[in-house]
Amino acid sequence: MTEKPPVSIFGLGYVGLTFAATLASRGFKVVGYDIDEGKLELIKRGKSPFYEPGLEELLAKAVSDGNLTVTRDPGEAVAGTDATFITVGTPEGLDGRADLTQLHSALKDLGKGLANKRSWHLVVIRSTVPPGTSRSAAKLLEEMTGKRCGVDFGLCMNPEFLREGNAVEDNLNPDRVVIGECDKRSGDFLEGFYKAFLGERLPPILRTSLENAELIKYANNAFLAMKISFINMIANLCERIPYADVEEVARGIGLDKRIGPYFLKAGLGWGGSCFPKDLKALLRVGEDVGVDLPLVRATVEVNERQPYKAVEFAERALGDLRGKRVAVLGLAFKPNTDDMRGAVSIKIVNKLVEKGAVVVVYDPKAMPNAKRIFGDKVEYAESALDAIRGADCAIFVTEWDEFKSLKLGEVAKLMKNPIIIDGRRIFDPRTIPPTVKYYAIGLGWR
Ligand code: UGA
Repeated sequence: MTEKPPVSIFGLGYVGLTFAATLASRGFKVVGYDIDEGKLELIKRGKSPFYEPGLEELLAKAVSDGNLTVTRDPGEAVAGTDATFITVGTPEGLDGRADLTQLHSALKDLGKGLANKRSWHLVVIRSTVPPGTSRSAAKLLEEMTGKRCGVDFGLCMNPEFLREGNAVEDNLNPDRVVIGECDKRSGDFLEGFYKAFLGERLPPILRTSLENAELIKYANNAFLAMKISFINMIANLCERIPYADVEEVARGIGLDKRIGPYFLKAGLGWGGSCFPKDLKALLRVGEDVGVDLPLVRATVEVNERQPYKAVEFAERALGDLRGKRVAVLGLAFKPNTDDMRGAVSIKIVNKLVEKGAVVVVYDPKAMPNAKRIFGDKVEYAESALDAIRGADCAIFVTEWDEFKSLKLGEVAKLMKNPIIIDGRRIFDPRTIPPTVKYYAIGLGWR
């Protein structure tokens, strides 16, 4: 293997594109392939089709340096590179199972290139796929190409653990690299690749079976989501106990090294393009092999109820919501992204509208996506203060930094009723001005 082998990446969503851009920034030659021509045109000009901090700068440089090129021809992408990473989406299917349509079409595209290739080539599945999928993918490629996996080509399952909004950094500083391998040569190649990519920042590398790698990804996401649902359950308890505060409880348990401080931030629930679909898919995997997964089920159930806490607070403060003007601040599923997939804001806004409230929304980045989702059901504000002006109540749904610097005393003066619902524990309860009626997740009545 050359020190920095040229690689191709099939699927230029946030996983594939951030991976491509960070690899190119480390001097790798990367060929990107996607079926979406509009996306390829943007990338060719060094522009990102979505918002991800730090990505556009890397992209512009990668494209102008010539380290990142894109193509509409998968055969060309395979021919000119030593390994292909598949980073297509595996969204939720109709029955909750992972929908593998994009994976299958990427494999078909790849297979055509592989069939014509004389030299050994490594296929790396980086998409989140149910256990058994990677082994089936190897069989499919064997049938398509007449070649043998483990002899003429290699295959690895290499899950990613990137967080949206932090994907560039997570690519460059992973906690670990998990390599599921169909044979030793494939694993050796991928390990060497990561050594060349990450250099001194190389984390522990776990070499394992394809199925273990697939399961590690699902178990990882399920465990993280379970931590959040656990603390949200405790938050709901805290609210009924005078002088209790979930933030303090989380701090207290997070100091136990066996628990750790991360993913213990109580709020209106988890969303996004990964946790919701991955937990459902995991439940289906359990069903398919006849194993009940009660903790995963409870994790999902707690989360399905949690967003409606915002509406309950609003009703507790205002009574009937019909005709009441409610500002919803923060629509993205978390800060630093414009992504609204699986965002809890959707459930909250829809419920408020259903109850007859006049809803005005604002998000620093997600307004174009919000307009596609809510259409003319809601009003769109230009800024947080614009949304809050004249409102009967303001609900903070996403913890954007710009909300943290709002002075609640000033905010209260703009509102018709100074009612603030803090769905993400943005504000310090000790500093709330007496003019504000403040409701917060996990804060006991006092
Ligand atoms: C998640 C995982 O964190 C990544 O490791 C994984 O690679 C990714 O899914 C994936 O499978 O591709 P992501 O969906 O980008 O990443 O977002 P997270 O930062 O994990 O947040 C998920 C949701 O949990 C957000 O709605 C966030 O607001 C919520 N959350 C997170 C909490 O409510 N409390 C917390 O303490 C942490």
